[in-house]
Amino acid sequence: MNFDVHSFRQQFPILNTENHFHKPLIYFDNASTSQLPEPVIEAMNIHLRHHNANVHRGVYGLSAQAEEVYESTRREIAQWIHAREPREIIFNSGTTEGLNFLASQFTNLTPTDEIILFIQEHHANILPWQRLNGTIRVVSMDEKGDFDENDFAEKLSKHTKIVSVTHISNVLGTINPVKKIAQMTHSVGAICIIDGAQSMGCGPIDVEDMECDFFLTSAHKAFGPTGIGWLYGRASLLENFKPYHVGGGIIERVRFDHPATFREIPARFEAGTPNILGIAGLREAIRFLRSMDWEAVQIHSEKLKNLLLEILSNSPGIKVLKPHNHRTGIVSFAHKHIHPHDIASIFDGEGIAGRAGHHCAQPLMAALNVHGTVRISLAPYNTPEEIQTLIPALEQVDRIFS
Ligand SMILES: Cc1ncc(COP(=O)(O)O)c(C=O)c1O
Repeated sequence: MNFDVHSFRQQFPILNTENHFHKPLIYFDNASTSQLPEPVIEAMNIHLRHHNANVHRGVYGLSAQAEEVYESTRREIAQWIHAREPREIIFNSGTTEGLNFLASQFTNLTPTDEIILFIQEHHANILPWQRLNGTIRVVSMDEKGDFDENDFAEKLSKHTKIVSVTHISNVLGTINPVKKIAQMTHSVGAICIIDGAQSMGCGPIDVEDMECDFFLTSAHKAFGPTGIGWLYGRASLLENFKPYHVGGGIIERVRFDHPATFREIPARFEAGTPNILGIAGLREAIRFLRSMDWEAVQIHSEKLKNLLLEILSNSPGIKVLKPHNHRTGIVSFAHKHIHPHDIASIFDGEGIAGRAGHHCAQPLMAALNVHGTVRISLAPYNTPEEIQTLIPALEQVDRIFS
């Protein structure tokens, strides 16, 4: 049970390229988007060459093939995450669209209804809720940067209608106790939504065990292409939801003198021609994830994260934010004097792709008392040697700015 990172990374063609300074690419921006392995790229290539047609509306063989790509992906996701039925999987363009879709179902909330979020939410899990009339209550983090369960317990009440929480913070890598959150949410009869944008790439997901009502993610965060994602939702809840976008593919009957009638779930929420090419890539990404030995990967990922924390903690002037929380390989840091963008630019000169800024989490930045951070976010294809390159890169930062 040994994870051979060097042969694993051979499957990702982009990792063998150079950046625009002709330095070997060291890709540490995986929380933003992950890279694609050869089988996923090839699956999209094969789809375009051999199976490209529209779904739903064709009776000919090619359309049936495209339809099979589409529906088999739904079945494979449902099986992988332990949904009860494939119709509990709805395709969309990604987590952002999924959260907007969910919020659009709650336009009847009044100011006495409450929506609970965590201080670490990405803007995608804040802004759709701010459009509603409900009152938003925010759970704080504890000293370590973890979800404060006591604060949550105090904020939960009979007024709570929705709890929408990230599974893993895109800034600190904090892993939230989602099962406990779902159980506490249900104890007051509210709906529990888990933003899983960062968790698909970290190992198997089990929505049955998690006990959540909705789970959302984006393919591009877990070896898949951009522009495609999906949400899981309990069928009993989805059945009462209205269509979000309306158009072709979702109706039973359209007349000018009668309101339209809509198809059952999941078709009711998938208006228009879907991103079938993206779905072909997503299906292969799910197969790729399923083929991974996650126990071995997790040992490797843990070692990488510890090495990263050690290097950053020993670097002068650097403060790792919440270094002791319960986290994955997403680490943010700030420098005493040097702006995050300056650090990221110097990293770029060394071939290192890291991200600087507020990472679409301004309320968290305010809580941490920083304007922005440098974020290093790891994937299983990263190596200890790559992480070691941060030492000379940080020395270079010091030389330039001292
Ligand atoms: C926690 C979290 N939620 C939501 C999103 C939005 O994902 P997307 O841009 O794929 O819709 C991201 C993206 O970084 C994220 O990290």
